[in-house]
Amino acid sequence: MKKGFIFDLDGVIVDTAKYHYLAWKKLANELGFEFTQEQNELFKGVSRKRCLEILLAIGKIEATQEQFDTWMIEKNLDYLEFIKNMDESEILPDVPKVLEFLKERNIPIALGSASKNAQPILEKVGLLSYFDTIVDGNNVTKAKPDPEVFLLAAKQLGVDANNCVVFEDAVAGIKAANAAQMTSIGIGDKNVLNEAQFNFIDFTQISTDFIKNLI
Ligand code: BG6
Ligand code: MG
Repeated sequence: MKKGFIFDLDGVIVDTAKYHYLAWKKLANELGFEFTQEQNELFKGVSRKRCLEILLAIGKIEATQEQFDTWMIEKNLDYLEFIKNMDESEILPDVPKVLEFLKERNIPIALGSASKNAQPILEKVGLLSYFDTIVDGNNVTKAKPDPEVFLLAAKQLGVDANNCVVFEDAVAGIKAANAAQMTSIGIGDKNVLNEAQFNFIDFTQISTDFIKNLI
């Protein structure tokens, strides 16, 4: 039975939530309202377009299509500026250890992310070569919690969906993995990610025996 492993990017491999937050906060402040860290929690795993819709609802701002498109571009340019100097020091603890463990055993590995910036980020932190395929915000039409991103990743790996394992830090991502009939592993607060089949605060808590049992 061939197994496949699928990793979310933001919040699982790298802690980019703080950079997304800074970029959204800058836009909110320019538009004349505050945007808090707590509100930023709602943005985890959520597509850029949906994030802007939520942001504008928070600020009670109605936008024309043209303004909406301009702000999407502006937010991303600011985000790219914030992540410009990212390097391997921003990889979350023990992520390379798990990737290496899987690679040594020839287990297919995919990225399944909502971000349209996934590939350049993996390049910056030096992890791109671990991934057999990348499915990201550029390849899907339906955002998490829709399972499309993970189903496409499984297809590209040539692995049945129910033989895939997904690491996710977002509620929408766990729902997507469950909807795809995959093994869902929550990385982060288990009270928030309570629909996951397994929960760990981070990769330092995942033993090699646990991974072996999944393979
Ligand atoms: C997800 C993040 O991985 O990607 C979200 O958790 C983000 O916060 C989304 O909005 C889209 O990212 P990007 O890089 O395409 O704006
Ligand atoms: Mg995430």
